[in-house]
Amino acid sequence: MEDIPALEKKFEEKIASGIVIEPKDWMPERYRKQLIRMMSQHAHSEVVGMLPEGNWVTRAPSLRRKVGLLAKVQDEAGHGLYIYSATETLGADRAKLVDDLHTGKAKYSSIFNYPTLTWADIGAIGWLVDGAAIVNQTALAKCSYGPYARAMIRICKEESFHNKQGYEILASLMKGPPEQQKMAQDSINRWWWPCLMMFGPSDGASPNSEELMRWKVKRYTNDELRQRFIDRTIPQAEHIGLTMPDPDLKYNETTRHYEFGEINWEEFNQVIKGNGPCNYERVHARKDADEKGLWVREAAEAYAKKKLTMNS
Ligand code: 3HC
Repeated sequence: MEDIPALEKKFEEKIASGIVIEPKDWMPERYRKQLIRMMSQHAHSEVVGMLPEGNWVTRAPSLRRKVGLLAKVQDEAGHGLYIYSATETLGADRAKLVDDLHTGKAKYSSIFNYPTLTWADIGAIGWLVDGAAIVNQTALAKCSYGPYARAMIRICKEESFHNKQGYEILASLMKGPPEQQKMAQDSINRWWWPCLMMFGPSDGASPNSEELMRWKVKRYTNDELRQRFIDRTIPQAEHIGLTMPDPDLKYNETTRHYEFGEINWEEFNQVIKGNGPCNYERVHARKDADEKGLWVREAAEAYAKKKLTMNS
């Protein structure tokens, strides 16, 4: 068996030459730990992300809207389970990951700690939150860890449906009476800045980015992806008559990027510390669902064991 320095050297060479790392390949413990952290938090985000949207399934304004929202919420559940499975290929124990979410040890995306106050919020989430997720996840589809990269390919296809259905909800409201236009603009005013926070702290304040970039887990920095999201979203907003709540937003013809105002990092830090508007409610709902679903998991395990003994 080769010594660790030789194995590390080989690993770095594989990463540098763009070879994808698979579950059975040797990898530094730190690489494994970073992936388990990032992937499990991603999976938690997908599952918790169902809650703000689920709040509107019974109150959707039409059967068509209800069907579209139900499909999206079900997709998010699938994304969560898909990414938990990818995390398990690193030797992680799913029950432990879920427990870390319930005890507050693990994070999930800050964005899901904001309330969905009106139907327009469902449009804002689909268009902005899933739009941000698409920018982030299309980059992750090129990450160095095979199972994660492959999971992103399928997930991104479903995210683009979510993004389009959110944009269409807002476009319809903006063609509606003044009250509907006001509801849509109010929603953007509440969701725009928290969406920019989804990409994480600015590059100088990101303790994980340097390592994740070196190992090609992250292919772009937090600020690069945030800028890419802003540049693609503003023209879409203008197309349907929405304005962003940022007086400093302006297009720079030289850099060909939008300049934007200062993000409220104090708010971000408070939300990720658990002091956001809905943190308690979200974690409580997940713990409650986990307790209520215990009998289903026990029955499935008992059935699987019985089947195993019958076939052996
Ligand atoms: N919400 C909560 N925590 C966040 C955060 C956010 N928006 N942004 C950063 N953090 C946390 C990080 O987890 C890290 O804390 P930790 O070390 O205790 O885990 C700390 O803040 C410092 O941030 P870093 O930038 O150093 O952390 P990362 O390098 O991990 O970058 C990230 C953060 C950009 C979120 C990265 O982890 C990532 O790309 N994760 C995968 C994608 C993901 O999780 N997306 C969440 C949204 S899922 C979604 O939108 C579903 C869609 O279907 C609607």
